[in-house]
Amino acid sequence: MPATILIGTQWGDEGKGKATDLLAARTDYVVRYQGGNNAGHTVSARGQLLKLHLIPSGILYPHVTPVIADGVVVDPGVLLEEMDALSERGIDTSRVRVSGNAHLIMPYHLELDKVTERYLGKHRLGTTKRGIGPAYADKAARIGLRMQDLTDPKIFREKLEVVLKEKNLILSKVYNRLPMEAEKMAQDYLAKGERLAPHITDTGGLLYRALREGKRVLLEGAQGTLLDLDHGTYPFVTSSNPVAGGALAGSGLGPKEVDSVIGVAKAYVTRVGSGPFPTEDAGPAGTHLSTKGQEVGTTTGRARRCGWLDAVLLRYAARINGLTELFLTKLDVLSGLGAVKICTAYRYEGELYGDFPPHQSIFHKAEAVYEELEGWQEELEGARALGDLPEAAQRYVRRVSELASVPVRNLSVGPDRDQTLSVEEA
Ligand code: IMP
Repeated sequence: MPATILIGTQWGDEGKGKATDLLAARTDYVVRYQGGNNAGHTVSARGQLLKLHLIPSGILYPHVTPVIADGVVVDPGVLLEEMDALSERGIDTSRVRVSGNAHLIMPYHLELDKVTERYLGKHRLGTTKRGIGPAYADKAARIGLRMQDLTDPKIFREKLEVVLKEKNLILSKVYNRLPMEAEKMAQDYLAKGERLAPHITDTGGLLYRALREGKRVLLEGAQGTLLDLDHGTYPFVTSSNPVAGGALAGSGLGPKEVDSVIGVAKAYVTRVGSGPFPTEDAGPAGTHLSTKGQEVGTTTGRARRCGWLDAVLLRYAARINGLTELFLTKLDVLSGLGAVKICTAYRYEGELYGDFPPHQSIFHKAEAVYEELEGWQEELEGARALGDLPEAAQRYVRRVSELASVPVRNLSVGPDRDQTLSVEEA
């Protein structure tokens, strides 16, 4: 049984949680393969809203095994907090599996994330301050500590002592912060490790065997294509690879295991943090999208920047990820706008760019070239089939498919499960 990859096509917050939730109903394993608790989705658990940052949303289905795979960076305190919050609501968390190879976010990563952002001043990235970048930097520098180290106190203490010596020099000499104490940190982490030990396993092997047994695996990307470390709008990116290629490296599966790559795209675009955003709209349309779309970050509570759908970026995401279909979310938010616009190209120094520009300076200064489509006033929340949508909304969906050269197979018009329409022919 082949695996499916589900990824964000924009700068994150595309509504992947909703798409995952829908697919999880017919999936056995839902796998996070990159990022950490910089992601966030709100789930409704036993009538109460709960914010999850690390555990895949599939946890709410008793038949799903949620997996945190090798490529994720894990803050063990956050993982335990989420497991406890779920248990308190009667949800069984014993199925959660975490790779022994996943790297740990340590207290000095959180501190370094904060002080380096402060140090960068107006050049700051606007990170989530969860220690993500510093944890991945240590992984690449080969001085990271991993989940499996939590089960070997001697090794854990040895590694921590070496790395903390350097971190304390940086914290005290460069950033004028107090040094951190190794033994206290070790005791705290090892205690958490004892609780997490039953969940730590070889997740790559687990998933490989599951696929051989005909089980269905969903690889769920966090963040989005344009926040990818290699293919996004560097340096305003996250420190991992959300793209489809990252799903393989981050989960330990080979490319032949996957047969579909679903790209989730919001019907407009949002971005949190700094960085270029050619279709950003600071006028009434942007305010409409932000208010009606309730565009506030799940993790940081920051207001998201809003703008029109960008087909140049969508085509780029289709190429980079090898998208086989699109899941278009929040179409209902576009209701009530006079006209709706889609960016089809960029203009820079008199030249038109139909593809994502190869140099970041062009992207920074590019002006969006729009195609204007007729808008619609009707609210879409009640629609349950494509035919229920006003003709103008149907035209918009068809145009998105055409411009991306990828079919829209699902679209959502509200947060509930039954507010997802399947599209046979867009
Ligand atoms: P970091 O991932 O915390 O290092 O932040 C790097 C950039 O990625 C910042 O611009 C963040 O706002 C952005 N970012 C990280 N995670 C998310 C997410 O889940 N949604 C949207 N933006 C994110």
